[in-house]
Amino acid sequence: MRITGRVSLYGVVGYPVKHSLSPVFQNAAFSHLGIEAVYVPFEIKPGDLEDGVKGLMLSGVRGLNVTVPHKEAVLQIADRISPEAEEIGAANTLKFSDEGVEAYNTDWIGFLRALEEVHRPDGASVLVLGAGGASRAVLYALRQVSAKVFLWNRTREKADRLAERFGARVVDAPEEALGEVDVVVNTTSVGLREDDPPPVNASLLKKDQLVVDLIYKETALLRAARERGCRVQNGFPMLVYQGAESFRIWTGCEPPVRVMKLSLLEFGYIPTDYSRTP
Ligand code: ATR
Repeated sequence: MRITGRVSLYGVVGYPVKHSLSPVFQNAAFSHLGIEAVYVPFEIKPGDLEDGVKGLMLSGVRGLNVTVPHKEAVLQIADRISPEAEEIGAANTLKFSDEGVEAYNTDWIGFLRALEEVHRPDGASVLVLGAGGASRAVLYALRQVSAKVFLWNRTREKADRLAERFGARVVDAPEEALGEVDVVVNTTSVGLREDDPPPVNASLLKKDQLVVDLIYKETALLRAARERGCRVQNGFPMLVYQGAESFRIWTGCEPPVRVMKLSLLEFGYIPTDYSRTP
């Protein structure tokens, strides 16, 4: 792609952010559609968020993704917040317009699109593990499709609060609901470390259940689930779909999802069985 003075700038703000895979697939999408744009990471420390984001806006950046740890704090500096971001209490996408900073959340729709690849979400019964930021986006998505949701969290009070807000039944232990659900979704950070055990008693998983882990790798949970004959999905599809929806918001163009997925494979980001999805 030839870069001229008319290039549009996009990026992702986070701390840390150098590990982000978003530049890989967002630049692939721009290039595929012949849009003269560049997407880069911006490492902004928590205390510098407002100055950093406003500085990027004033420098002509058109839009940003927002990642850890800024997704909640960024709402404080938005001039307009979409109803979804408002309800989830977090934004992962900013668009700069004449009206200033517009904040959106595409995590929820990213989760839903990824789920739709492998399971019909409408009316599914789902056990959600965790009650942090990622869980709120998942619970919002599941409410949109009238799923029957069981919610477990290590700290029960947080689960109670989210269950009231999004409509879910809180369980004291994941095992209480494992036998009743079609889908299990791990939104906790258990699995990030190599030696983390599965967050549920995996021997109770049933063949043909779908087990989704939002972490971008084959976790102990996914390995155990696969051994039990379950279908599994890691966090890659959600990552791509949330980015695809951000791309749509910024450009108004249909995101080339297949190209975005393939770019991750091409760069060797080993999404194991993900390569089989279209
Ligand atoms: P995110 O934005 O990725 O959702 P978060 O808001 O910090 O991150 O939430 C982390 C989630 O992982 C929480 O549900 C947390 O449980 P608590 O609310 O009890 O803290 C969960 N979590 C983290 N470590 C855990 C562990 N060792 N066992 C079980 N749950 C854990």
